[in-house]
Amino acid sequence: MTKQNGGKDPGYFLDLEEGVVGRELFVSEELYEREQEQVFARAWLLIGHESLIPKKGDFFVSRMGEESVLLTRDRKDKIHVFLNSCPHRGMKICRYDEGNSKVLECPYHGWGFSLDGRLAAVPHQKAYMDVLDTEKWGLTEVAKLANYKGSIWATWDPEAPEFADYMGEALLHLDTVLDSRDGSEGGSIVLPGIQKCIVPSNWKFGAENFVGDIYHNHSHASVDMVGIGPSGKGRRDDEEMMTANKTIMRCWNMPMGHGGISSLQLDDYPYAPVYRDYPEIDAWFKECYELRQERLGKKARLLGAVGTIFPNMSYHGTQPRSMFVWHPHGPNHMEFWRFYLVDKDTPDSVKDVLRHYYMRYSGPAGLTEQDDLENWNYATAASRGVIARRRPYNYQLGMGLRTRQEGIPGDVCERLMTEDNQRNLYKTWDRFMQGQSWTDITS
Ligand code: FES
Ligand SMILES: [Fe+2]
Repeated sequence: MTKQNGGKDPGYFLDLEEGVVGRELFVSEELYEREQEQVFARAWLLIGHESLIPKKGDFFVSRMGEESVLLTRDRKDKIHVFLNSCPHRGMKICRYDEGNSKVLECPYHGWGFSLDGRLAAVPHQKAYMDVLDTEKWGLTEVAKLANYKGSIWATWDPEAPEFADYMGEALLHLDTVLDSRDGSEGGSIVLPGIQKCIVPSNWKFGAENFVGDIYHNHSHASVDMVGIGPSGKGRRDDEEMMTANKTIMRCWNMPMGHGGISSLQLDDYPYAPVYRDYPEIDAWFKECYELRQERLGKKARLLGAVGTIFPNMSYHGTQPRSMFVWHPHGPNHMEFWRFYLVDKDTPDSVKDVLRHYYMRYSGPAGLTEQDDLENWNYATAASRGVIARRRPYNYQLGMGLRTRQEGIPGDVCERLMTEDNQRNLYKTWDRFMQGQSWTDITS
């Protein structure tokens, strides 16, 4: 078997022409460390959503790779992302999940930082004998920050392309999550209560599953039989996506490693009821649907099922409408966060039905997610042994079947049963790991 990288041994096996990927990508401590530097210290990462910090002085603790970061809204209403580590001796400044404060005071020696990251208060400052330059000892801020329709993204790399360039046409797929159901731009908020759990699995299992693994539906046979659809019946996920609106469903991917599954509604697509047991709820969705068609016309045809934005952000575009992050937590663990989105003017009765559906479906206690987590957990554990590591994984499904489909941005796979999106994800991962320049990575 050949290795990529022009014969130079990169320390892992990857032959994407052949569709074969070494197991060390999922279990190696050494590669994990390199990922922190080459991938997570460079790529754009999802931090959270502006609705988590609506007021001045609000903060929310998030992560970038392994590192804890603070999302804040300062006194001038400006949003920031800082490393949650004190410049004095490294103490984690904020150990709560979220809150509101005039100042962020370090618990160790009491240095106080304003919400814009400046060092604003130093106990016993006179003892520094004018040596301490407070201008230089503020919090470490990210190199670039983007607020895209309320979702907050950041990168540590000042050389990184602007967020819109990093995303390319993947933004149009992400819009299917972030835009309001009536077709107006943005307008979503996070439902209070973010699901977080630590899972004994490498983070890439989550990323590659949501980049477009329809092949694994085999795992969900039992939950589909139980019927936990939004109406309490039928398929577990998207009646509105899968059947109600008569769609063409395709896997799509892009050079930056982003990919997913989106659907294109056919021209004749009247509203079909999804929430049949809840006439009031269904009436609200019908109204939104009709407004959307009126507002967007043909543009309204794209519906996002799932997707992964390289490296570790994924989403569900319709139900359960959510953004999630696979935070790395060592080679054999990840911290999995899910943010559920609704339109900000959604009636409480609708929110309540959705909230219950989201809990039935997702998270460690959700029926569908349990299937996925069990697969990734056991795959990680069963891949760690000396003998197990000798056998690479197979990614040969749907080789060489890339095409274009008008109305679906990106390259599209001719068949839905494909691992082209996963191969594309690891191609980008490999470019990052080799320390390629942004010009080479994005070419
Ligand atoms: S570690 Fe924060 S003030 Fe000393
Ligand atoms: Fe799944």
